[in-house]
Amino acid sequence: MQDVDLLMELEPVVAENINRHLQVARDWNPHDYVPWSQGRDYALLGGQDWEPGDSTVGPAARASLIVNLLTEDNLPAYHHNLLTALGSGGAWGEWIYRWTAEEARHAMTLRDYLVVTRAVDPVDLEQRRMALMAAGPANEPVEMLPNVVYTALQELATRLSHRNTGTATGCQIGEQLLARIAADENLHMLFYRNLVGAALELAPDRTMRAIADVVRDFEMPGTGQPGFRRMAAEIANSGIYDLRLHHDRVLMPILRHWGVFDRTGLGPEGEAARADLSAFLHVLDAQASRFVERREERAARKALSSP
Ligand SMILES: [Fe+2]
Ligand SMILES: [Fe+2]
Repeated sequence: MQDVDLLMELEPVVAENINRHLQVARDWNPHDYVPWSQGRDYALLGGQDWEPGDSTVGPAARASLIVNLLTEDNLPAYHHNLLTALGSGGAWGEWIYRWTAEEARHAMTLRDYLVVTRAVDPVDLEQRRMALMAAGPANEPVEMLPNVVYTALQELATRLSHRNTGTATGCQIGEQLLARIAADENLHMLFYRNLVGAALELAPDRTMRAIADVVRDFEMPGTGQPGFRRMAAEIANSGIYDLRLHHDRVLMPILRHWGVFDRTGLGPEGEAARADLSAFLHVLDAQASRFVERREERAARKALSSP
C-alpha cells in the first residue's frame, strides 16, 4: 500500500477522531491562567528590567520552562511539516488546523505567565526564540507514517514534561497552567496514537518499520534550540524529564497500547522491524538505568560533602 492510499484509507479514522476529540476537548482562555496582578513594567516603560533575583523558580525548572516554551513557539515549523506530510485537504486538513489553533494557546499563555511573574529573563527568551525560529523547520520526519508516529510520541513526552515542570516551579499558578496545557497534549496524543493504531491494522509491516525507526531516532523538537544539550542535562538531572521517564512513561506505554510486542501476522519486514525495536529498547533501558545510578551516586557524594 502506497503512502497516498494509506492516507485515504485513514481519512474516516481521522474524521471519527476529530469528532471524538471535539466532544472531550475543553475550551479554555489563556488570560484566565496568568496572575496579572504580579506584573510590572519593564525599563522601556519606566519600570525595571529583569534581574536574576526576580525569579523565584530554581535553575532546573527555569531551564525546563524555557525549553518547553520554545518547543511550543516553534509551531509554524510543525504545522508546515504536518501539512507537507498529511496534506491540507479533507479530514486531515481539518484536524491540522484545529490542532494548530489549540497548540497556539500554549505558547501565548506560557509566555504571558513567564513575563508577568518574571520567572525567566525575557531578553534571553526572545533571543532564543528568534534563533530557533529563524533556523527553520524542526527535525521531525516529513513522511506520512513516521510523522504521525513521531507526533504521537512527542505529544506524550510533552505532556509529561509540562506536568513535571509545573510541579518543579513550586508555584501553584504555574502548576495549574502547565497541568492545563498537559491535558491538551494528552488529547493530542490520543488522536495520533489512534491513527497509528489504525495504520498498524491497515499496513502492519510498514507501520512497524516506521515505529522502530522513529523510536530509535527520537529527539524532542527542542533539540535545535541554542544551548539545548546543557539545558536538557539540567532537566534530566532534576528528574523533570530523563531517559528513565522517556523509556518507562512514554515509549513503553504507547508501544504496549499498539500491541507491538504481541501482535501476530507480521511479515518478514515487520518482524525485522520489531526485532530492531526490541534490541534498541533493551539498550535504552540499560542506558536509563546507568543514568539513574550515576545521578544517585552524584547526589550521595554531594550529601556527604555538604556540612
Ligand atoms: Fe503544546
Ligand atoms: Fe500538543
